[in-house]
Amino acid sequence: MSRNPVTVPALQQMKDAGEPITMLTCYDATFSRLLGETDIDLLLVGDSLGMVIQGHDTTLPVTLDEAIYHTRAVARGSRNTHIVGDLPFLTYQASPEQAVISAGRMLKEGGASSVKLEGGVEIVDAVRRCNQAGIPIMGHIGLTPQSIHKMGGFKVQGLEAEQAEKIFEDAMALEEAGAFCIVLEGIPEDLGKRITEALSIPTIGIGAGRHTNGQVLVIYDLLGLDMSFKPRFVRRYAEMGKLVITAAQDYCNDVRAQVFPNGDEVFRKTG
Ligand code: KIV
Repeated sequence: MSRNPVTVPALQQMKDAGEPITMLTCYDATFSRLLGETDIDLLLVGDSLGMVIQGHDTTLPVTLDEAIYHTRAVARGSRNTHIVGDLPFLTYQASPEQAVISAGRMLKEGGASSVKLEGGVEIVDAVRRCNQAGIPIMGHIGLTPQSIHKMGGFKVQGLEAEQAEKIFEDAMALEEAGAFCIVLEGIPEDLGKRITEALSIPTIGIGAGRHTNGQVLVIYDLLGLDMSFKPRFVRRYAEMGKLVITAAQDYCNDVRAQVFPNGDEVFRKTG
């Protein structure tokens, strides 16, 4: 599908027009090329790559160089999609200067069009500085996987009134600091609705209910590649895990039965 990447102002217009925003994670050029054939609005090179690509239990070990490497691959795969680069743990929390340098590298070396940071009130100076440097920042609040140890696990956030209030204030502070959009992850639906209605900028939800301005899923979850992972907020649109196992087993069977390759699958001398 050939079209221009969705811009930051266009995303705002989508919220204003009540048009839902679509985002999926993507980590390599092949998936990027495939997703570039759809009319998806945003591809997020999430630090979830630490779990689904690298096999870690958390996103914490991902380095900036690794995140840039994957972002560059995704950028090569699709030139017509807005790519959001995710800054890994400890590449922006130390200071606003660190945030500008890391986020700048995402644009300069990774080819991203915008950058996502986790956190609320505590990162508004970083958001402001990036914004001043011309780097569009997407916020990410609620269940923030980089704070897994503080949260005590991947747990829904904002179930209690005080915590919900903190998440609400985080959203307001991020908008005030110049974020162009906010991911709301793992929060009750009514909090997602309240934040979405109170903000001017768009929200994109993952496990945040039906009232956010858009939705995001990890592509591997949507495709059912990890058959043991099926949280409530994930809808599987395919069972590719089963397909991969069946295809690979069929290949092994064919090689052992000496029916692969067959006569049509070999090279022959000409003449
Ligand atoms: O890293 C990631 O994939 C994310 C999404 C789940 C929003 O942050």
